[in-house]
Amino acid sequence: MSNETEKSQVIHGHIHWYPGHIAKAEKKLKEQLSLVDAVIEVLDARLPLSSRYGDIEKLLGEKPRLILLNKSDLVNEQELKDWTKRLEKETFCPVLTSDAKHSNDLNKITNKIIELSEPRIQALMKKGLLRRAARVMVVGMPNVGKSSVINKLTKTSKAKVGAKAGVTRQQQWVRINPKIDLLDTPGIIPMKQDNQDRARKLAFVNSVSQNAYEDEMVARELLLILKEKYAQNVYDYYKLKSDEDLTLENIAKSRNWIIKGAQFDIQRTSAYVLGDFRNGKMGKFILD
Ligand code: G4P
Repeated sequence: MSNETEKSQVIHGHIHWYPGHIAKAEKKLKEQLSLVDAVIEVLDARLPLSSRYGDIEKLLGEKPRLILLNKSDLVNEQELKDWTKRLEKETFCPVLTSDAKHSNDLNKITNKIIELSEPRIQALMKKGLLRRAARVMVVGMPNVGKSSVINKLTKTSKAKVGAKAGVTRQQQWVRINPKIDLLDTPGIIPMKQDNQDRARKLAFVNSVSQNAYEDEMVARELLLILKEKYAQNVYDYYKLKSDEDLTLENIAKSRNWIIKGAQFDIQRTSAYVLGDFRNGKMGKFILD
């Protein structure tokens, strides 16, 4: 989990971030974005809306962006296809899907990035500059799989091309093919505290520091959302009876998670419910 989300705490059952920390993270992200020709914005496929960064268009201006719905292995294939089309329509950006955990084939990403960056490189050449590789970076919320995408993209080529002018020492570029230099540090999108609904959804997928919420609160919210759309999967997974409500208490009863005094072990149940969802054990769900 990134430092950007560590500075957070639970306040009255809400998920809370320190504004000063957000400003710092935004400044860093802006600096990184100013160095590149194109951006790969990694989203969590389970949250195609909630894991997006609203301000990215403003920051990027005319710079091209590829949207990558990562963790495709954790969602329903047909729903993902529908979301891909919807995002393409809404953003006017190309949208691809990926499973950066299990798949090594990220060629479609590199091909698309080359295609997207080419007009910008051509424009530079028209101004009399020599052709150079496109400079690209990966951005996204914490835990969406940015580092996994970078690792897969740089796996075949570990050639560090060193620091460029204006780039701090820590920011290394890796030539992943003759046409792309990738910044090896991802840009972390700061989380704003203006929308608790979105914050909770990001907590479901572990995109928010665990210091920022209580498992029980988030697990109860998760069950409410799953109940609307995917109730049957959850009933089947926890072997609940059809006349039982979908609650932490009934899941604890079904699993026999009881503590002293014949009380349900809600803490343990909450942790399991969140873990089972995050690992895709209950099924493949999109929550937006
Ligand atoms: P970040 O840089 O955006 O913070 O994310 P990172 O790549 O560190 O990935 C966060 C977690 O998500 C890791 O799991 C990683 O393995 C997993 N992950 C990344 N891409 C995918 C994907 O496409 N599908 C699935 N199912 N998981 C993905 P972890 O539990 O922290 O580590 P590990 O136990 O998986 O190694």
